[in-house]
Amino acid sequence: MAYIKDEEINAIREQADIVDVISDYLSLKQRGKNFLAVCPFHDDHSPSLVVSRERQMFNCFTCRTGGNVFSFVMKFENVSFPEAVKIVADKIGYNLSVSNFSDYQTVKGPEYEIMDLAKKFYLNNIFTEAGTKAIKYLEDRGIDLNIIKEFNIGLSLGDKDTLYKVLNAKNYDSDTMANLGLINKVGLNIYDTFTSRIMIPITDLKGQVVGFTGRIYNGEEDTAKYINTKETDIFKKGHILFNYHNARNYIRDQKEVIVVEGNMDAIKISASGIKNVVALMGVALSKEQIAVLKKLRVPIILMLDNDNAGLDATVKNGEMLENAGVEVKVVRLSGAKDPDEYIRALGVDALKENIKHAVKYMDFKLEYLKNNKDLSNMEDLITYVKEVIASINNADDLTKSVIISKISKDYAIDPEILKQELNKNTLKEQPKVEPKEIVTRPKLSKYHIAASKVLYHMMNDPNYITIYKNRLGYFKEKQERALASEIVYYNNVHNNSINIADFITYIIPQEEIYNYVTEIIGENNNTEISPTEFNNCIDCLLKLLKNDEIKELKVRIKQELDINKKLELITKLTELKKGSVNK
Ligand code: UTP
Ligand code: MN
Repeated sequence: MAYIKDEEINAIREQADIVDVISDYLSLKQRGKNFLAVCPFHDDHSPSLVVSRERQMFNCFTCRTGGNVFSFVMKFENVSFPEAVKIVADKIGYNLSVSNFSDYQTVKGPEYEIMDLAKKFYLNNIFTEAGTKAIKYLEDRGIDLNIIKEFNIGLSLGDKDTLYKVLNAKNYDSDTMANLGLINKVGLNIYDTFTSRIMIPITDLKGQVVGFTGRIYNGEEDTAKYINTKETDIFKKGHILFNYHNARNYIRDQKEVIVVEGNMDAIKISASGIKNVVALMGVALSKEQIAVLKKLRVPIILMLDNDNAGLDATVKNGEMLENAGVEVKVVRLSGAKDPDEYIRALGVDALKENIKHAVKYMDFKLEYLKNNKDLSNMEDLITYVKEVIASINNADDLTKSVIISKISKDYAIDPEILKQELNKNTLKEQPKVEPKEIVTRPKLSKYHIAASKVLYHMMNDPNYITIYKNRLGYFKEKQERALASEIVYYNNVHNNSINIADFITYIIPQEEIYNYVTEIIGENNNTEISPTEFNNCIDCLLKLLKNDEIKELKVRIKQELDINKKLELITKLTELKKGSVNK
């Protein structure tokens, strides 16, 4: 396994200025000592992201997230920690001594381990005798052994529970397997979800296997062509784009991304050497998928199926993407049902020609609106012009002006009339104020706020760690305790010096604690605290912890039957209330 050395990571973090790095992604405005930007991690128009050069940290006080330069790149680019280190290193011209991070692992739960084992199990099957037919099927579709390995395509076996037995033998919990959608429990019986299917692993944006899609290959007719993993804790269809992780670097190089409907299309296109391709999980783009595509900051080429559903999806998805400020181009294939069949029938060069001649979404839309209309008919023409005008409502001024002059020329209509029509629409639209996305912020308890402040300032100053150890030494919630003990540990091994930006680098691989840290930073970054205020927070936590203890004692007193024990508890309660018992 390739590791990047800690010294290198720290050197990169120190040499890279977070302000410079983030300004590659966002437009930053200086405000006093800090810099402000519109936060890319939630839906917003007003600037809530603060970048501090002094602390080398960023945070958003609206969606409560934050971290150091690596956290930002990980989150923005949807990459793993070592990949983020590599990206930052490249930006500052730092030569890393290792270059392959693909096998880097963060600390993960059993869910990801199980999915990875299932992937390997299926993959092994396809290379046994049982897989001969499946391999033949794939080869007939132009998917050779190299592609099978590249996409980790596997095979589920015919018996009802082989995967279950394999995982069970490794002592994994059957409820977890069921929650992951790998098995079904019916009464006392257990069945594998997937049997006798070609298994295609689906990875999340970071490349971890989170689900599968299984295709029949034996020509069965009485069963669904594909079975997919149901929605699970780690498999959220709307958050995934098939092949995103593999395509990511190619998209960066090619400066465009091809979006297709079917996973098989993405595999086939990629097998033909066009690697900057992703597939939708279903035909309608979700808000999250749009956000992922937008962050790629390259034009999107929609190449959906050659049927009515594909056409409608092209119109709708294109519209949503354009409204999100993404440049969209469209390819409509003809002569085959989908890109896979197109390549089979007409070859990859013909497909490449189509991609080269992708049309701008607006041009596609103007043509699309002509469908089922006879433009020599006055009524149809009026409808058409109205629809065109309506569809450029949200466009920028240049687009509006270009389209108006084109329509005016093509159909000999006075441009002033078209402008009036456009203004009429804009006026009509105005009262309909777009419902502003409200970022749901659960109201925080007093305890939470105090704990969050104490932990934040412990990450910034060893003196506060000492106060914490002497006066509190304990937190109520497991994640708070875990973080506190990591802070104390880090400070010890770093000779009583802690620096938040470096502490974050250290904690990133521990995903759960790290996620909690990002929240704390979102809530507190750039705030100052005096020793008195810090001590007040500790007082507040002590008081809340004591109240909890009193409540708990009262319950126990009520339940206790033994009179001596009851008295003992009552004495304890009185002392606790007086304040003579210290935690
Ligand atoms: P298609 O029927 O176009 O399948 O469905 P396809 O991608 O061309 O697959 P091949 O070429 O026959 O192997 C488009 C997408 O709809 C979903 C799949 O995600 C598929 O890629 N689908 C289709 C299902 O989930 N279940 C099905 O039974 C069929
Ligand atoms: Mn197909």
